[in-house]
Amino acid sequence: MSCDANIMAGLLVSLLVCVLCSCFVATAKLPNIVFVLVDDWGFADVGFRNPAISSPNFDHLAKTGLVLNRHYVFKYCSPSRASFLTGRWPHHAHQWNLPQSDMAGTNLNMTMIPAKLKAAKYSTHMVGKWHQGFFDPRYLPINRGFDTSSGFLGGGEDHMTQEAECAIDYWKNDAPDPRNGTYDAYNYGDDLTDIMNNHNVNDPLFIYLPLHNVHAPLQAPDEWLNIYSVNSTCENRRTYQAMVSVADNVTGYLVQLLKKKGMWDNTIIIISADNGGAACGGSNYPLKGCKGSFFEGGVRALAFVNGGLLPESRRGESTDGFIHIADWYTTFCKLAGVDPDDSGTGKFPVDGLDVWPIITGENEKTQHEEIVLGYNFDNVYPSQGAIIVNNYKLVVGLQGHGCDSLMWSALDYPCSYGPEGPDCDPYCLYDIVNDPTEKKDLSKENPDMLKKLVERYNSYSKEPRDMQDQGYHSEDDIPKDPNACKYMADNGGYWRPWKNI
Ligand SMILES: *[C@@H]1O[C@H](CO)[C@@H](O)[C@H](O)[C@H]1NC(C)=O
Ligand SMILES: *[C@@H]1O[C@H](CO)[C@@H](O)[C@H](O)[C@H]1NC(C)=O
Ligand SMILES: *[C@@H]1O[C@H](CO)[C@@H](O)[C@H](O)[C@H]1NC(C)=O
Ligand SMILES: *[C@@H]1O[C@H](CO)[C@@H](O)[C@H](O)[C@H]1NC(C)=O
Repeated sequence: MSCDANIMAGLLVSLLVCVLCSCFVATAKLPNIVFVLVDDWGFADVGFRNPAISSPNFDHLAKTGLVLNRHYVFKYCSPSRASFLTGRWPHHAHQWNLPQSDMAGTNLNMTMIPAKLKAAKYSTHMVGKWHQGFFDPRYLPINRGFDTSSGFLGGGEDHMTQEAECAIDYWKNDAPDPRNGTYDAYNYGDDLTDIMNNHNVNDPLFIYLPLHNVHAPLQAPDEWLNIYSVNSTCENRRTYQAMVSVADNVTGYLVQLLKKKGMWDNTIIIISADNGGAACGGSNYPLKGCKGSFFEGGVRALAFVNGGLLPESRRGESTDGFIHIADWYTTFCKLAGVDPDDSGTGKFPVDGLDVWPIITGENEKTQHEEIVLGYNFDNVYPSQGAIIVNNYKLVVGLQGHGCDSLMWSALDYPCSYGPEGPDCDPYCLYDIVNDPTEKKDLSKENPDMLKKLVERYNSYSKEPRDMQDQGYHSEDDIPKDPNACKYMADNGGYWRPWKNI
């Protein structure tokens, strides 16, 4: 061939490659994304870690999927969700747990992940617990990027009646949901059926399923209680076990629906706890502490990933890569081809990292060097904060009593506390990779490392205080409406936004 012919052949090949590529791009569908949060779920409260729990769906998903050994969250509900939905460290979104009558919510200037995914034409749905504010209708899920929402707006309620304090908290899209009076997880199953029936398979799908199980009050229908034998010494534990089994069933049901619709192969599903197991019910064995503390039992969540998009090489594996719940924001944006940037006036930029390389195994070192688990400028007791830098974790301030600093002595929670571990006053330092159960406080032994982490922690004091936690110094500072219950009683007996009433 002459030189010219060679060039021509080369051009033809590149042309062909280009055509094939653009063909591929045009037909490759954006992945379906499903995120399941199980409320107050203990690190050991799943069948594959504890034979006392019946959770066949979770076990299968974990055993044929990827277990996330180091998936970090906040120490309680609302901030973990804010962090997930906004992609920020908890103190950059907010660290408060909103009571029903709060006149506040997650910063409206922050673009939540469903709104980001809308830019890539995702169909976006949420079923379950919101807990991001609802006093002002602008805080509602459908006004923050969800096409549909069903479930409840506050942080907890009666599972059977949906009563929360003084009214019924049950909400669908933009109005009260009259289906109150049924075990909530059962209705969530029906909601998932509706979402999947109405879904056009040509659109990419995002489902956020923050289940109410296994949050207090501990309640389960008899048909689920009955799979466990009556426990005269710890009936709470039996109810809690049944509640995990219900969460397992609903999650398994959603997986079945995705498979039936032929969507599973192009789906990634993440299942995680929002924080550690709570006192009287859950077990975080062998970790120390529980919901409400920055010890590992409070913030290192039970989590795993599955779905057809997970590479074959990652199935049946686990990863030690450090992931924070805020990372999913950036990761999902990348998967959807959307720019994760959300900077602007009056708000911190997104903190999350794209952790997809950890999930695929392409690069497990694509992780934060530093994770801010919690930061409290004003050092209000208890539980001021915690930061992870590489293998080390600094826990700042007293974490509390009882379960908060409990050393779990047995896999199955024995219904009475084990020995209380030493608390942190003012600091504990742990090597959480070599001492995952936080038995050895290194703060005296390794003053250089202590100094380094304290400096890192204190560096956040330079951030504008009126932006951290949206300017509220403690939960007590958040305005609450003393007349909220009266508004609800006068307006049908359901919790609803009341700013404009
Ligand atoms: C859910 O529970 C019902 C009732 O026990 C059972 O028939 C069904 O197979 C379960 N579904 C899944 C996915 O586990
Ligand atoms: C939201 O942004 C607007 C315009 O930049 C600003 O005036 C407002 O104070 C911000 N609100 C919050 C809560 O940061
Ligand atoms: C009752 O619960 C305790 C604590 O979880 C457990 O150790 C014990 O085995 C249970 N007993 C029965 C009969 O299930
Ligand atoms: C649902 O809540 C409303 C409002 O409080 C109440 O009137 C109704 O009786 C409740 N329904 C059931 C089945 O409990």
